[in-house]
Amino acid sequence: MSKTVLKHDLEGAEEMINFGIGRPSADLLPLDLMQQACEAFFRGAEPKDITYGRKEGDPCFIESLAAFLEVNYGQQVRADSLFLSGGASQALDFICTQLTRPGGIVIVEEPCYFLAYQIFKDHGLNIITVPMDGEGMDLDALEALLSRVEPTLVYTIPSYQNPSGVSMSAARRKRLIALSQSHDFLIVADEVYQLLSYHGEPPAPFGTMLAGGTVLSVGSFSKILAPGLRLGWIQTSNKLVQQLTKAGLSNSGGNINQFTSMIVKQALDSGLAQKHLAKLRTVYSDRVNTMDATLREQLSDYVSWTKPEGGYFFWLKLIKHVDVKALQKRASSLQVEFHPGTLFSNNEGMQNYIRLSFANYGQESIRNGIARLKRAFE
Ligand SMILES: Cc1ncc(COP(=O)(O)O)c(C=O)c1O
Repeated sequence: MSKTVLKHDLEGAEEMINFGIGRPSADLLPLDLMQQACEAFFRGAEPKDITYGRKEGDPCFIESLAAFLEVNYGQQVRADSLFLSGGASQALDFICTQLTRPGGIVIVEEPCYFLAYQIFKDHGLNIITVPMDGEGMDLDALEALLSRVEPTLVYTIPSYQNPSGVSMSAARRKRLIALSQSHDFLIVADEVYQLLSYHGEPPAPFGTMLAGGTVLSVGSFSKILAPGLRLGWIQTSNKLVQQLTKAGLSNSGGNINQFTSMIVKQALDSGLAQKHLAKLRTVYSDRVNTMDATLREQLSDYVSWTKPEGGYFFWLKLIKHVDVKALQKRASSLQVEFHPGTLFSNNEGMQNYIRLSFANYGQESIRNGIARLKRAFE
């Protein structure tokens, strides 16, 4: 090993490794791809490309997005089912603004993406949680709840859930749709991890199950290209697309990210986005394997888990009682961090869980970080 490599390793060993961070590592943010897409855009750009855009998204971009999703979903995707958003977060916020009223009810899985709780609270919604098992949301529990409450929305992260990594089975997806029709609520399916599969494919996304008119599928380029683009989409019935275009925000400003969408259109049409997705699957798959193997070597006395087949996260269950706050403090002093399970609960539950993301670090740092975590447990 050369001296430079050794020095680099030593420097790396002293840096904080924060497994709490759920975003792509710097080496996976495709600057070259974006440069090529920008150059292609400016070679053929017209002034109309940078004026206010059509409310549901520029037809050029929407057609390209539909084609991209069609290839990846293996099913027809209608352009008139798509509405451009500023990423999944903005889509969730916009859906709440347009389709809910303060005091309304949203039912979510527990555990659930912690920042979704915040968005729902921003809109004055009352959050009720239902548990999950290895097949996703517990629909018996949901059905029991539906005899007592009338939710406006049921929010789910059906594929490679954040934080649990679980995917909802195909049978449950169908049953949830049937429940939405019989009990008159909308399903908001946050499908940001749908395309990040490393071992087999998840069941068909809710985006392909629009016929009954009760589904809004939320997608994003944050996880498959770059979070800073702030570009995503809502896929829903054309009736709801039309309703969303009547929003004051759409009437006043047109679609929320016209310029970026015209650049991303180039990345979609050239095949560069598809190539990047293939690269992400390979790199993340290696990281999953490394994290899984290192956890088995180092932490199997302390935690149990199911190896994730996609997405960003390991959801570790503590085998014995551990004071997670004390563990966090100790871990932090050893230069490693993670998210405690309670963050993903609406009622201080999930105390015997912790979440690790493998997206933000290469294999070497994953090994170092888990070794530090072992010392924290010891
Ligand atoms: C389930 C889920 N939804 C939404 C987001 C945020 O997505 P975006 O960057 O598209 O707003 C994340 C990011 O961590 C997420 O895990």
